[in-house]
Amino acid sequence: MNEDQAVQRLKELPRPWAAEYLAMYSSQLGGIVTEPWLMSVPIDDHMVHRGDGVFEATKCVAGRIYQFRPHLDRLSRSAASIQLELPLSRNELEVLAVAVVRAGGEPDCMVRIYVSRGPGGFTTNPFECPKPGLYIVVSHLHSPPNKAYDLGVQIGISHVPSKSGFFASVKSCNYLPNVLLKREAAVKGWDFAIGLDEQGLIAEGSTENIGVVNRDGVLCLPLPVNILEGTTARRAQELAQGMLREGLLKGLEHRPISVSDLHEAAEVMLFGTTLDVLPVTRMEGEPLAGGKPGPVAKELLERVRKDILHNHAMSTPALV
Ligand SMILES: Cc1ncc(COP(=O)(O)O)c(C=O)c1O
Repeated sequence: MNEDQAVQRLKELPRPWAAEYLAMYSSQLGGIVTEPWLMSVPIDDHMVHRGDGVFEATKCVAGRIYQFRPHLDRLSRSAASIQLELPLSRNELEVLAVAVVRAGGEPDCMVRIYVSRGPGGFTTNPFECPKPGLYIVVSHLHSPPNKAYDLGVQIGISHVPSKSGFFASVKSCNYLPNVLLKREAAVKGWDFAIGLDEQGLIAEGSTENIGVVNRDGVLCLPLPVNILEGTTARRAQELAQGMLREGLLKGLEHRPISVSDLHEAAEVMLFGTTLDVLPVTRMEGEPLAGGKPGPVAKELLERVRKDILHNHAMSTPALV
């Protein structure tokens, strides 16, 4: 196959899912492209063949990226944890992400930022890569349907070994356990699979945190030990302070949560960038928490959504 044929073949490859992609910056190209067939990453980038990279997924709503700072803070922390230097200053990264969102042209979109070890060969040795890579992808935003919030969703307890400690705390491109959680949920007909830590305690979902309101009206989140600390769960806890003051919640704490705590809970909910706050009402075919969404999840969802739309201190200025 000659060069022209190869390029032609790449252009013509059927990729129906790529209709979701709006724009991408690639440090390989040194620019932003909007043609999905150009949105690729070299196979010798260690992010591809070793998962040696870190990433963030943020959402832009009504033209503003929500919680952009906390997401970039976590990206910096993840990169520092694996001794990966960000290829741009924080300010340059922000400016570039904004330019990709603008190129995508959609006020509601997902913005994913990947910092890779970079191309350099095929061993595990990170020192064979001269320069980190940077890829920013903007795509359509899909939130769960209203029905999921009105009726609640179903979870199941997974038996996939979870990441723990250090590896759980880094948002690296090494997401195999998370992928297997998602796969298990799909195969078993659950909406989400929840992983357990090595002690058999509740950890988190594939890309979401979990919280429980116990019978005493206390909102409990797992200890931040064997999970990725979510920007949504953190913001929800800040917003829940108001509910504490108003007597809508009796307490708010991190504590170990067991599977039987889930069975006995007054409410169970999931937190995540695309979900906001999503009530859980079934577990492996059985009703959970009375089988319908409870008042705390409903109120928290309302407060988070209000924060997204109206609290401009938590978002970037309008970009699109
Ligand atoms: C493993 C894991 N846990 C939790 C979360 C939720 O984090 P956030 O609320 O920042 O989306 C994510 C999301 O990316 C994740 O990948």
